[in-house]
Amino acid sequence: MLSVEGLCVSYGLLRAVQRLDLTIAAGEVVSLIGANGAGKSSTLKALMGLAPNREGKVSIAGRTISHIAAAQRVRSGLALSPEGRHVFPDMSVAENLLAGAAGASRADADCRTANVFAMFPKLMSRQSQLAGTMSGGEQQMLAIARALMSSPRVLLLDEPTLGLAPIIVDELAELIETLRAGGLAILLAEQNVEFALAVSNRAYVLDAGVLVKSGNSRALASDPAILAAYLGL
Ligand SMILES: Nc1ncnc2c1ncn2[C@@H]1O[C@H](COP(=O)(O)OP(=O)(O)OP(=O)(O)O)[C@@H](O)[C@H]1O
Ligand SMILES: [Mg+2]
Repeated sequence: MLSVEGLCVSYGLLRAVQRLDLTIAAGEVVSLIGANGAGKSSTLKALMGLAPNREGKVSIAGRTISHIAAAQRVRSGLALSPEGRHVFPDMSVAENLLAGAAGASRADADCRTANVFAMFPKLMSRQSQLAGTMSGGEQQMLAIARALMSSPRVLLLDEPTLGLAPIIVDELAELIETLRAGGLAILLAEQNVEFALAVSNRAYVLDAGVLVKSGNSRALASDPAILAAYLGL
């Protein structure tokens, strides 16, 4: 569903991502793991067309999208839930969701809102609450729900567990599994390596912008080098 070849991102002289190749199938969760500054967010931003200086080929369902702007990438089926959530704090839950469906007809937007509310009942009961007054976990769910409002085929999740209580992290794991089972392709960037390897089918390990390892998540979770470097074991 998503195919990436030779992705490079740079900021001036700093090469944040170097020649990354990556694929994700429909119904597959792939995680991108690595320490602070490894290049995870830069990768996701570049896929969305938001990193300023990028190279490489990105295709979604066989269609090359590397030359088109972010808004068009959303229309071709790519959506991002960004690191730090970035919900619109002075807008209500319902308005934040509508913003995620920009470009859709009113009828489509209403239908997608109903689907999202079925998946996130808590958001339905809070639909008129200002997003900035929601808890961290609620804002995270809203950020993911807003991304789903564009009916994506590929969902990019950047650090969704950051700052969440363990019980909410468990809810998030269930949500990711539900979305995967529904056929979505998911790319999950996480510093929480234990969580990422537990919820993903495959993983890519980035170190200073370079892909150092990739493979089956279960195998990586027992790889001594991964345990030592990322899980402190
Ligand atoms: N807008 C920017 N301008 C200059 N340098 C940047 C910019 N954004 C990121 N960088 C640098 O690029 C490198 C990769 O950053 P990136 O945010 O992609 O890492 P990350 O893996 O997402 O880290 P974290 O786990 O802390 O979120 C870092 O060295 C960072 O300082
Ligand atoms: Mg990041």
